[in-house]
Amino acid sequence: MIKFEASSPYPLCDYVYSESEAKAHAALVDAWLGLQTASIEVRLAQQGCRLRAPHASGEKQELWFGLEVQQLLTPYVEIRSLLSKLEPQRGSTIVDLGAAYGRMGFVIGREYPGVNFVGYEYVGERVSEARRVLAKLRYDGISIEHADLASAEFEPVAADVYFLYDYGTPKAIEKTLHDLRRLSKSRPITLVARGRHCRYLIETRHPWLQKKDPTIGEARTTIYVVASEKSVTAELPNTMIP
Ligand SMILES: C[S@@+](CC[C@H](N)C(=O)[O-])C[C@H]1O[C@@H](n2cnc3c(N)ncnc32)[C@H](O)[C@@H]1O
Repeated sequence: MIKFEASSPYPLCDYVYSESEAKAHAALVDAWLGLQTASIEVRLAQQGCRLRAPHASGEKQELWFGLEVQQLLTPYVEIRSLLSKLEPQRGSTIVDLGAAYGRMGFVIGREYPGVNFVGYEYVGERVSEARRVLAKLRYDGISIEHADLASAEFEPVAADVYFLYDYGTPKAIEKTLHDLRRLSKSRPITLVARGRHCRYLIETRHPWLQKKDPTIGEARTTIYVVASEKSVTAELPNTMIP
C-alpha cells in the first residue's frame, strides 16, 4: 500500500505498486486537496456538461461522463514518476491536453517550482473546481484553461512537453496531433502519450514522432520525440481514423 503523508503528498515511489494502490492513494490526495471530484462527476453523469468550452466546435466530444473518477484521472504517483523521468527545467512549460481537474498542475506546483503548467479542459465544471483549489495554493505559473482542443479556432500554447491521456474522440486527438506537428516546426517537443487510442493514432499515422527510447517495452505511458526535422514536413500516411 502507498502510504499517504501530507508532508509528502506526491511521493516518488522506488518500489513496485499496483494500479489499485495508486488509485487508492490518489483518492486520499484528492480528499486532502479538497477536490470535490466524486460529487461533480455524479452531477455530470446525471445532468451533462452545462459549461461548455468557449468556441466549442459543436461536434460531439468524448467527455467520459459516468467513468469512475480514479479511472478518468492519472494517479499522482504516476505523474510524479513521469516528471522525474522528464526532468523539466526551470522556465520550461508542460501542457496537459484534456486536463480534467489538473492533477499534473498540483504536482508541478509543489515539486517543480519555476516550471510552468497549462491544462486545457472542455468541461467547465471540472475547470472551475481545479481553479478553486489551485487558487488556495497560490502556485506561480500553473493554470487551467477552459478550451475545446478540437475547435478549429484553438491551438495549444508553445511548450516543451505535452501530455495526452486518450482525452477524446479519435478525430479530436488527430486534430491535436496536427497542431503539435505544426508547433514542432519551430521548437523541439516531447509528447507523453497515455492510453491505447492515442498511441495507436501516433504509431499508425504520425511517423514524425518516434519513441524516445525504443528499447522500453509497452508501459502505461510512452514518451515520443520528433523523429527528425525533415519528418515534420513530410507527407503523412493516408490511413483511416478508426
Ligand atoms: C481521460 S481524462 C484525462 C485527465 C488528465 N489528463 C489526467 O490524466 O488525469 C480526459 C479529459 O479530456 C477532456 N476532453 C475531452 N475532449 C476534450 C476537448 N475536445 N477539449 C478539451 N478537453 C477535452 C475530458 O473532458 C476529460 O476531462
